[in-house]
Amino acid sequence: MKIDEIKIADLKPEKFIKDKIGEISNIVGDSIAVNALSGGVDSSAVTMLAHKALANRLKTYFIDNGLMRADEPQRVVSLFKKMGVPVELVDAREQFFNALKGIKDPEEKREAITQAFYKDVFGKLVKKSGARYLLHGTNLTDVEETIAGVKRQHNILEQLGIDTQEEYGYKVIEPLIQLRKSAIRKVAKDLGLPEEIYNRPPFPGPALSARVIGEVTPERVETVRKATKIVEEELRNTIAFQYLAILHDDKVTGVRGGKRDFGFQIEVRCWESKDAVVASPTRLSYDILERLADRITKEVPGVVSVTYNITKKPPSTIEAV
Ligand code: XMP
Repeated sequence: MKIDEIKIADLKPEKFIKDKIGEISNIVGDSIAVNALSGGVDSSAVTMLAHKALANRLKTYFIDNGLMRADEPQRVVSLFKKMGVPVELVDAREQFFNALKGIKDPEEKREAITQAFYKDVFGKLVKKSGARYLLHGTNLTDVEETIAGVKRQHNILEQLGIDTQEEYGYKVIEPLIQLRKSAIRKVAKDLGLPEEIYNRPPFPGPALSARVIGEVTPERVETVRKATKIVEEELRNTIAFQYLAILHDDKVTGVRGGKRDFGFQIEVRCWESKDAVVASPTRLSYDILERLADRITKEVPGVVSVTYNITKKPPSTIEAV
């Protein structure tokens, strides 16, 4: 299926929003639609578009998969509540950790998340709410990278030949599929979303599990969550495209208080990019790098090594998994 890209230079946000609201209303008609909000710019834009199109015929859920950043579920739900968009918080932590148990292979992890999300969690929510449609923030880069076989992005279904009606019991609507990230930010701004949303660095659908090399357990996610908080605090002012912490699978020998400490390794990445297709590492100052290493080894239990990625994409990718 060929998707016609709307380039940022050709995008007229007001017209785009009006057209998409019309399309969503037409497709959904009198039925009910659901969507998952993660607080990222894509899902936030879709939530606002669908809210404007459907009002109370839209049911928005925040799925707490146990893989989100510190305090994220509560913060996002209350932000949307303030804008008049009701969001139901669904605790699905156990389902996701059970699905991920024992899996180390990146693509198997992504598949486990896809199944947990679309089949187990959303399959049930759709039945419960009586919805026939799921609205989705899929963007053009997600589609291209999945089709090219770089990564199975968790949200690509129909483009891979998956009949969602048959597999999960609902149809998927993807209003942002012709846009890349920078164009989605423009639309999000025009939709009246606050700057903390429309300028938010990207965050992957599989959340922190895309940053845990090896098995994803609640304890390992907690380690990467703590490191992520420090990286975000320290790099917020860099205006980089994206910055993140990754937990490595192998441990290394360290020394603490004069004693051997066999501990974890955290890798920091900070990216310059326009659209995530190609990216290069930010030339961070040594002062910043040193502060990151000091804070992460002091504040995140068990970490004895912090490294900075200096590889471009390609051949690296932005996330580790
Ligand atoms: P990679 O790691 O493929 O990431 O270079 C490119 C951009 O996409 C984000 N990303 C995802 N976004 N679902 C998403 O919605 C996913 O499964 C996913 N995996 C990666 C990543 O954070 C980066 O901005």
